[in-house]
Amino acid sequence: MYTTPFLAAIALTNIYSTSASCLHNTNLHPRAVEEDGKSVKVPNFGYQGNVGPTNWQAIDAENAQCAAGLNQSPIDIKVAETAKTKPGDVRMDIPAGQTLTFENLGTNVEVLVEGTTTLGEKKFKLKQFHYHTPSEHKIDGEYFPVEVHMVHEAEDNPNEIAVVGMLFQLTSEPTTTNTSSNSSSSSSTSASTIFSTVLSSISSIPDPGNTTSLPPLDFSALTSTMATTSFFSYTGSLTTPPCSEGVNFLVATEPLGMAVDTFNAMKKVVKFNSRFAQNALGEPNLLQVSRLGLERVEAQRWTVRQGVDVVPMPPPPAVEGEEAGRETVLLVVHSKREFRA
Ligand SMILES: *[C@@H]1O[C@H](CO)[C@@H](O)[C@H](O)[C@H]1NC(C)=O
Ligand SMILES: *[C@@H]1O[C@H](CO)[C@@H](O)[C@H](O)[C@H]1NC(C)=O
Ligand SMILES: *[C@@H]1O[C@H](CO)[C@@H](O)[C@H](O)[C@H]1NC(C)=O
Repeated sequence: MYTTPFLAAIALTNIYSTSASCLHNTNLHPRAVEEDGKSVKVPNFGYQGNVGPTNWQAIDAENAQCAAGLNQSPIDIKVAETAKTKPGDVRMDIPAGQTLTFENLGTNVEVLVEGTTTLGEKKFKLKQFHYHTPSEHKIDGEYFPVEVHMVHEAEDNPNEIAVVGMLFQLTSEPTTTNTSSNSSSSSSTSASTIFSTVLSSISSIPDPGNTTSLPPLDFSALTSTMATTSFFSYTGSLTTPPCSEGVNFLVATEPLGMAVDTFNAMKKVVKFNSRFAQNALGEPNLLQVSRLGLERVEAQRWTVRQGVDVVPMPPPPAVEGEEAGRETVLLVVHSKREFRA
């Protein structure tokens, strides 16, 4: 029987944010259009410099979890230690014939789409999927060139979020459907095809705020593959501000394929949009670990300036197991600053 984190109903309260692109088009962060009536509003965070992932907490007070949460995503998924769903536990239904909206949010490119995904017994509404490059999750330390996140909200609680993630390897074979050719499409259609076919329109949305319509696409190859796929399952966070926790994450155990040309065209527009891998679940937030390390350096400089003889400084903050806790106590005593671990 399926017993998972995602059956625990966790209400994500107060996480509405103008910065929340992972939540885009959900109840918690409805899509908004600029005054020109055409461009979609883009978020205020980024992936480089002062607005990048080491500083998201400074952009907005509601992003505090980004630097304090102990169950942040993405993570390095350890294959041997991570719960896996059984094939058939994740069932997707994405109706054909939808006119899809494809848009450039600056922080990613996203497709607005409707569907229903059943996780165990619980139904979630698909709201959108978007692309990250390189991958946010790692598998036993290995990154992948692309990761797609399919973002859902629970049917009975729109504040409960589930994200189905898919990793991509590069292939030398084409992975798009040639819509003007009848012969090639049927034989080459696979779960990968839909994601590559979407990207064949990326040149229509080169700039942040751009949006375009896609012709109806057939998701059946994807949904039938998902029905036989096993997923790593854990409870983490949004990988974008406000980094709210309690998010049901499901990451496919088998990567899909993407042709090199498709990847390169995507990378040219998306550029780089991957949050660094967070500490293991339950371990201190890496930004807190880093802050404590900086305080240690500051304290050491101070003692040198004062010419005071002090006990040798403790070693750099450990990040694993009990060591981390012990180090934390030492540093708290030393710096007289609160550390919530
Ligand atoms: C595709 O199939 C349709 C219907 O069989 C046919 O009318 C059309 O010419 C074909 N297109 C190509 C490019 O072969
Ligand atoms: C798509 O198929 C048509 C008809 O077979 C062909 O002329 C065209 O070159 C193909 N396009 C690509 C990108 O393969
Ligand atoms: C894309 O965005 C740019 C910059 O805002 C704008 O100049 C251009 O007209 C937009 N293109 C489309 C197709 O909306």
